[in-house]
Amino acid sequence: MIVLLTGASGGIGQILTDFLLNKGYTVAAQVHKGSLPKRERLHVFSANLDNAGEREQLVKDIQRSVGNPEVFIHNAGVNINAMSWKYSLEDWNRVMEVNVNAAFHISSLLIPAMREKKFGRIVYVSSVVAFQGVVGTAPYAASKAALLGLMRAQSAELAGKNITVNAVAPGYLNAGMIHQVPEELQLQIQQKIPMGYFGNPEEMAAFIGFLLLDDARYITGQTLHFNGGLFG
Ligand SMILES: NC(=O)c1ccc[n+]([C@@H]2O[C@H](COP(=O)([O-])OP(=O)(O)OC[C@H]3O[C@@H](n4cnc5c(N)ncnc54)[C@H](OP(=O)(O)O)[C@@H]3O)[C@@H](O)[C@H]2O)c1
Repeated sequence: MIVLLTGASGGIGQILTDFLLNKGYTVAAQVHKGSLPKRERLHVFSANLDNAGEREQLVKDIQRSVGNPEVFIHNAGVNINAMSWKYSLEDWNRVMEVNVNAAFHISSLLIPAMREKKFGRIVYVSSVVAFQGVVGTAPYAASKAALLGLMRAQSAELAGKNITVNAVAPGYLNAGMIHQVPEELQLQIQQKIPMGYFGNPEEMAAFIGFLLLDDARYITGQTLHFNGGLFG
C-alpha cells in the first residue's frame, strides 16, 4: 500500500516515516528544505506546498513513478508566531497554503483514484491549538480548525466508497515544533498538561497507523485527540 506523507522530514514526519516503513508500507515522502536517509520502499519528493503548481507536480510525479497512493497523511505544517493584528496578509496566506490549502488540493487530486479503487484513508494532522485560544497563533489555529471542516465534509462525501477521512489533534509532543519554544515556556506548558509531560511521537504514529487498518474502516469524520488530557 502506498502512503503519500507530507512533511516527512520534520520532527513528527521522520517518526511517521519510520513507523510506516516498518509496517511494510511504501512511502512517497514529501520534503521541503529537509531530507531523509535512503531506505527500501521510501521515495522522496521535494516540493514547496506553498505553491499550487508544485503540489500538482508532486502528485503527478508520485503517480507516475510510484503509483496511486491509497493513503494520504497531511502532516506538513507551519506556524509563524505573532499577534493577529501584527500579521501580514502574506504570512497569513503562507500558513493557510501549507496547512490547509495543500490538504484540500492534494486530497482532491488523489480522491478520483481512491474512488475508483473503492478504498482510501485520509488523515489530517490538526492541533489542540484549533480548540484552545493560544496567544500568537491566529492563522495556525484557523488553519488547523479549517482542516476539521474539510475533513467532516469529505468524510460524508466519501463514506460510500470505503474511504475514511479523519483528523488527529495532537497536544504538545516531544518532537518538531515544540523544540522552537524557549525551555522556560516548555516547562510552563508541561505544567498545564494533566499528564504532566509532552506526548511521545512514536505513540502518535501508532495511533495514526491504527486509522489505516481494516479494523478502523468504521471510523470516519472524527477528530481524534492525542493530548495527555489537555482538551477533549
Ligand atoms: N510537535 C508538536 O507538538 C505538534 C503539536 C500539534 C500539532 N503538530 C502538527 O504536527 C505536524 C508536524 O509538526 P512537527 O512538530 O513535526 O513540525 P516540524 O518539525 O516543524 O515539521 C514541519 C514539516 O512541515 C514541512 N513544511 C513546512 N513548510 C513547508 C512548505 N512551505 N512546503 C512543504 N513542506 C513544508 C517541513 O518541511 P521541511 O523540514 O522539509 O522544510 C516539515 O517537514 C504539523 O502539522 C504540526 O502543526 C505538532
